[in-house]
Amino acid sequence: MIIKNIHSAVEALKKGELVGVPTETVYGLAADALNAAAVAKIYELKQRPLDHPLIVHAADLDTAKELVTTFPDSALTLAQKFWPGPLTLVLPKKSVVPDITTGGLNSVAIRVPEHPVTLKLIRDTGFPLAAPSANPFGTISPTTAEHVEQSFGKKGLIIIDGGPCRVGVESTIISFLGKEPCILRLGGLSTEEIEATLGPIAVVGKSAKSIAPGMLPQHYAPRTPLVLLNETDSLPNLNPMGLLTLSSPAGCERFQAIQELSVTGNLQEAATRLYGAMRILDEMDLKLIVAYRFPDRGLGRAINDRLERASQNSSRLA
Ligand code: TXA
Ligand code: MG
Repeated sequence: MIIKNIHSAVEALKKGELVGVPTETVYGLAADALNAAAVAKIYELKQRPLDHPLIVHAADLDTAKELVTTFPDSALTLAQKFWPGPLTLVLPKKSVVPDITTGGLNSVAIRVPEHPVTLKLIRDTGFPLAAPSANPFGTISPTTAEHVEQSFGKKGLIIIDGGPCRVGVESTIISFLGKEPCILRLGGLSTEEIEATLGPIAVVGKSAKSIAPGMLPQHYAPRTPLVLLNETDSLPNLNPMGLLTLSSPAGCERFQAIQELSVTGNLQEAATRLYGAMRILDEMDLKLIVAYRFPDRGLGRAINDRLERASQNSSRLA
């Protein structure tokens, strides 16, 4: 059920129920992060493996600090600069955060989301919210309340409509558990912006499963097979095919459907529209979705990361 007024959502969360919430990145499936029984319902509804830790959403830096044992200076610098915003920090957790919230890890991923409705929700409930993206495990993340309704509406979930998500891809996750901070997941805050503040930072590859559980190579996937290609690559001989691209290159006649994410080549606009466009193509009974690789800068890097993961379901074509 889609609602606009947060009053019933506050009540539901206080009772240990789940609520679909808007954030600036993607919609989240939220529960009281400090209530293990409530958090268990997230895993159940999403069909998510229990060792995939959740992100905890705090109202502000001060409440975030209450959840961790240390907050290194570099993490503080980033938090002060980019919160509220699409940045998640992984820090050693205090015992007040239940193990189920962190998938059994002794660290916790925290962010302060930028959406005014969800910030008010967190303040009104009085506790932080654990919230993964509000989609069934492994599928395309939701960027509107209607997307969440399509997945979970029949299960009676309350969903707060906060409009379409401004950023459109998940938060950037940085770990502060090692000697040097490192990026565990590319996302809505670009590596360039982080480096302008902290200096050079490593991006951990997909093989680092032990460091970032839940970073599966296959994720964010449509049902239709998807391949990630360069514009110069030759095309598979399949029909009908759809194209997902930044702006349409010449020779697009081969495609029955084209989703052009930004006519002006703006990568932020492209990120905002990415998941919605994937959903539209996925509804069209295409044999294949071809995605042309995005420029490897700014949010283009996060977009390519998501497309690489989405393309892992097409191995049967190869
Ligand atoms: O933008 C976002 O981050 C969205 C919105 C709703 O805030 N949330 C989101 O959550 O993308 P989710 O569950 O789809 O992704 C959470 C990921 C996990 O898969 C894992 O890779 C990482 O966060 N994570 C969480 N806790 C961690 C920890 N303690 N150590 C390492 N990685 C962690
Ligand atoms: Mg997710």
